[in-house]
Amino acid sequence: MTAKLINGNEIARQIREELKQETAILKEKYSMEPGLVTILVGQNPASVSYVTAKQKTSKELGFYSLQDNQPEDITEEQLLKLIEQYNNDPKIHGILVQLPLPKHINETKVLYAIDPKKDVDGFHPVNVGKMVIGEADYLPCTPAGIQQLLIRSGVKVDGAEVVVVGRSNIVGKPIANILLQKQKGANATVTICHTGTKDMAFHTKRADILIVAAGKPNAVTADMVKEGVVVIDVGVNRIGMTAEGKAKLCGDVDFEGVREKASAITPVPGGVGPMTITMLMMNTVKAAKLALGIKS
Ligand code: GUN
Repeated sequence: MTAKLINGNEIARQIREELKQETAILKEKYSMEPGLVTILVGQNPASVSYVTAKQKTSKELGFYSLQDNQPEDITEEQLLKLIEQYNNDPKIHGILVQLPLPKHINETKVLYAIDPKKDVDGFHPVNVGKMVIGEADYLPCTPAGIQQLLIRSGVKVDGAEVVVVGRSNIVGKPIANILLQKQKGANATVTICHTGTKDMAFHTKRADILIVAAGKPNAVTADMVKEGVVVIDVGVNRIGMTAEGKAKLCGDVDFEGVREKASAITPVPGGVGPMTITMLMMNTVKAAKLALGIKS
């Protein structure tokens, strides 16, 4: 079997089109634009490029969008004050503080300072708690994107054996929680593998759906999966430069080997990556609607 490719670029494009239409309706009916501020501290090149992409997409969708660049030496107190300003700004519905922050700033304290109603990253403990009990307003963007990839590619999650490799707060733990809910596009039996797992291949071989966020290339190889598995590769590893001087990327899965056994697989790039920013936009539209008292 050679796997079907799950096209994240195409699925992200479809969702953005839907969000563009919802944004136009919000403008027409309520004279309101979803408002997103992205706060960037310092000039870390990867962070600059992520924030630029977030701004570009939000503008394309018709949002009111603000890019707030702060110097590397901003104090924690100043940053907390800035967040408080945006918490109180009625034109802003979503606040995103790009991570990582410089070492002298306590990241947890900063994330806790964001009003949970404006926490479009879904990182505030109030939103994490709501996700765990199946009452989420905002799902964290990468796991929400993974769930959309599965649903929109017609993968049956209900009753599936899902194995997650990696237990990070941003991907592994939330995707496990999302897919085990008794809800549409979920209701799976979920196992999480991590660096303390004794026999990882024992678990990965049982997977109907395998989600890999291990943070290293070739963490999953063909001998570790069963025929027909659906593989979602969350890894982004830089493995040199292309002839055009762009970063050459690979995921956490041995793509060439595993695609021969899988029924479907996400490529890297072009799989999970394009979904993350798109789900941030979805959360921002949701935040704007919640501010208007619209629940769905
Ligand atoms: N840095 C890398 N990924 C993310 C993300 O999803 N959200 C924020 N705020 N920072 C990040």
